[in-house]
Amino acid sequence: NKPSLEQCYNLLDFEAVAKRVMKRTAWAYYSSGADDEITLRENHAAFHRIWFRPKILVNVENIDMSTTMLGTKVSIPFYVTATALGKLGHHEGEVVLTKAAAKHSVVQMIPTLASCSFDEIVDAKEDTQVQWLQLYVNKNRAITKSIVKHAERRGCKALFITVDAPQLGRREKDMRTKFDDSGASVQSASEKPVDRSQGAARAISSFIDPSLSWKDIPWFRSITNMKIVLKGVQRVEDVIKACEIGVDGVVLSNHGGRQLDTAPSGIEILAATMPILKAKGLDKKLEIFIDGGIRRASDIVKAICLGAKGVGIGRPFLYAMSAYGLPGVDRAMQLLKDEMEMNMRLIGAPSIADLDDSMVDTRAVALH
Ligand code: FNR
Repeated sequence: NKPSLEQCYNLLDFEAVAKRVMKRTAWAYYSSGADDEITLRENHAAFHRIWFRPKILVNVENIDMSTTMLGTKVSIPFYVTATALGKLGHHEGEVVLTKAAAKHSVVQMIPTLASCSFDEIVDAKEDTQVQWLQLYVNKNRAITKSIVKHAERRGCKALFITVDAPQLGRREKDMRTKFDDSGASVQSASEKPVDRSQGAARAISSFIDPSLSWKDIPWFRSITNMKIVLKGVQRVEDVIKACEIGVDGVVLSNHGGRQLDTAPSGIEILAATMPILKAKGLDKKLEIFIDGGIRRASDIVKAICLGAKGVGIGRPFLYAMSAYGLPGVDRAMQLLKDEMEMNMRLIGAPSIADLDDSMVDTRAVALH
């Protein structure tokens, strides 16, 4: 007695259905956050403290929500962010997300720890479709180099280096269920047999290099012409460093609340960061993205108003995929587009360029 797809009216509806129909281990891996899950909850809650300041009597007959991200034209300013182990939720895995992204002209970020192989995910894309690669940096740099080179050869346009996970966080819900693989093998660069006693996350991540530091970043520039973005930046000082070192972008993110608990939410880091970047004349130096807790197009609008180029969305598409497959992800994306059009109309912004920081009241947001 699963509700029909048409009964899902927003992204949270997919989450409720997924919780009911997913395998317990898969639900535990997808939904869990670190420790007490305070950051996980805060990612969503932080948006509720930002209020709109809508403009009236603007001609909003035609709404254009298209924009660019890292030089790629997209139909709406969100992308499918990297989430590992797609086959835990759906037997076809990440290629389901690829097909939905193609249909909606949005970018897909391919995870290092995908269940499908990297080539399967690239082979599933349409000619004009753009993909990015999320990279966990291997202790063995020769492996990392070959992954990066291969991604560039296969047409990936950007490299998102995950910098918030020198060790994977303790996701206790996931650890309790024990990872049993269930057909969701990881086609990753891990050389060692995995330890399944600590949940899915820990089982698959032992190859990640905890010694990665700022001085390694120029090396990536020397081995690739792809755009380079740091994923998981959590304070303005590090955004400034990223500007100075010359990367193309940053994702203000706490990894969906799965890493350091009580780390701030992406939207709050953004609100704190942009005024400082503007004062230093650095706001045009790189593209700023956020992810974490985005469940409504109004959340996207708030991020754009505050200066983000776009937002990443993770769990909602996993839940839609797990519950309904491709039609589910398709509908989730369409719902966001419908919400976005309405929100832009009601706030008085016919295009993305019309969204600015005068349209949000952030006084209730903590500026760390
Ligand atoms: C993630 N995320 C993630 N990030 C990353 O850089 N590499 C990865 O392998 C994964 N894997 C992963 C698995 C699952 C199940 C989740 C939920 C998340 C983090 C992801 O890219 C993103 O930062 C968050 O998912 C954004 O938060 P929301 O949209 O899930 O609230």
